[in-house]
Amino acid sequence: MKVSDTSDLWWKSAVIYCLDVEVFMDGDGDGIGDLGGLASRLDYLAELGVTCLWLMPFYPSPDRDDGYDISDFLGVDRRLGDLGDFVEVIRIAEDRGMRVIVDLVVNHTSDKHPWFKAARASRNSPFRDFYVWRDEPPERQPEPVFPDQETSDWQYDEKAGQYYQHVFYRQQPDLNITNERVRDEIAKVVGFWVQLGVSGFRVDAVPFLLDTTGIVDGKKLLPDPHAYLRHLRSFLDRRSGQAILLGEVNLDRKQQNTFFGGSEGNELTMQFDFISMQKLYLSLARGDARPLEKALLSRPKGSPDIQWANFVRNHDELTLDKLTEKERAEVFAAFGPEKRMQVYDRGLVRRLPPMLQGDPRRIRMVYSLMFSLPGTPVLFYGEEIGMGENLDVGGRMSVRTPMQWNADRNGGFSTAPTAKLRNAVTPGGFGPEHVNVAQQRRDPDSLLAFVRTLIRHYRNGSEFGWGAFDVLEQPDKAVLAHTLTMGDRVIIAVHNFASEPREVQLPLPVAHEDRRLTDVFTDAHVPLEGNTLTVSLDGYGYRWLRLTARDDTGLY
Ligand code: NOJ
Repeated sequence: MKVSDTSDLWWKSAVIYCLDVEVFMDGDGDGIGDLGGLASRLDYLAELGVTCLWLMPFYPSPDRDDGYDISDFLGVDRRLGDLGDFVEVIRIAEDRGMRVIVDLVVNHTSDKHPWFKAARASRNSPFRDFYVWRDEPPERQPEPVFPDQETSDWQYDEKAGQYYQHVFYRQQPDLNITNERVRDEIAKVVGFWVQLGVSGFRVDAVPFLLDTTGIVDGKKLLPDPHAYLRHLRSFLDRRSGQAILLGEVNLDRKQQNTFFGGSEGNELTMQFDFISMQKLYLSLARGDARPLEKALLSRPKGSPDIQWANFVRNHDELTLDKLTEKERAEVFAAFGPEKRMQVYDRGLVRRLPPMLQGDPRRIRMVYSLMFSLPGTPVLFYGEEIGMGENLDVGGRMSVRTPMQWNADRNGGFSTAPTAKLRNAVTPGGFGPEHVNVAQQRRDPDSLLAFVRTLIRHYRNGSEFGWGAFDVLEQPDKAVLAHTLTMGDRVIIAVHNFASEPREVQLPLPVAHEDRRLTDVFTDAHVPLEGNTLTVSLDGYGYRWLRLTARDDTGLY
């Protein structure tokens, strides 16, 4: 056996599941999900095949940004439990073979954080410089991130007698990372959660965290913010050789590469592939796989240890900001034509199944694709059963409705009176009556069973997380045919973006002699003749084929 290979870099073949504790499972019947509730559902997640949970913020928070406004980085919000409950979740998850990563939201604090309270109270406070202050806001300012609520990144504070910077809501004053004590506090936060057993962090808003341009003298104090990210990574590596930084960096490819630390790979361990996600929707809208294909091929090579996180949907708006205006209009027209489905002129507040009108063929094709793309798949809770959104809630909260466990009241999420729920459940055809875990668990043809199958095959074949990616040339623009190669084994994945059946001729990536081709889902042997492979696909069909040496004894 080879020591220190694929199993060491666990994130390269993980199955990550993102959930918001507040809306996952309510263990004490007060209408708010909690850590006790989550603990009781860890077996469900293990059964699904998840290997890593990503917990959205569960820290004390006034909840102006659904927990992304934190008033104590070292605690648990009382409504959700306490540190003891958190440790129990970690322990049970570990026992079931799952790691846990948590959100690291240190671009800003809540304005109710004791640091900010002290900072605004006096210019002489040692905490004043924890934040970014100016007597006058700068003349040139970027477009606010939340343009529906904010017109500027700078807010005048009466008590302080100055303006403070806030890239997000005004209740989220930005921290000043050029201050050494701030960097020290961030290290303390990282060290604390690692010591409690987490396997890393989903790092919020990384480019904003490193952006020191609003800070007077920022460049002088911290000439290279990336040096800070490298420092944070090496600190984490020292504390735990196994922990990762999974960064939110919605920037172009060149800049994403910088956040990986280029070929050194010494900054973020992983990044979400925002570019491919956006192009996926363009491809779906057009029935043309090429925009996605191009996006995948444009990934920077980087270090072999880094990894891309593939996702179809997350907890925020489905951002389409990297598409051109015309492309965005196409996606809006296809998947969110009504104003209430859109937000900030750049995104959609819907989940995938309603956008695809519940077409099971198309939904399955998308998840087959996600699990076959090079990288690590990230599911947002409820995707595995095909939950929809609640547009009546409005904005980004539309997709953060309670998990649908069964067809009972409140979808089995809570025994509290419905009016007390943290967020209203999804109504209608995608609500708990029609879409829930209990029903799908017993149905071998359900989406849940399908996703479980995808996860099983993904986990059984290290080609998905580790293989070298390539595209097989063929003329049909509705079809994406790609390969993942690892040593002697090659996965050939073929996906049809059109509603009509297709047949494509694919050049075999290796000479066919002494090779065996198997259909991954059916285990059927596929005969090979010559160096061209003919693949037939149903409308929105998908195939995963595995090419191995004839004498390969692997159990896939
Ligand atoms: C990105 C998070 O995903 C989003 O939900 C949040 O509002 C902002 N960062 C601010 O923390």
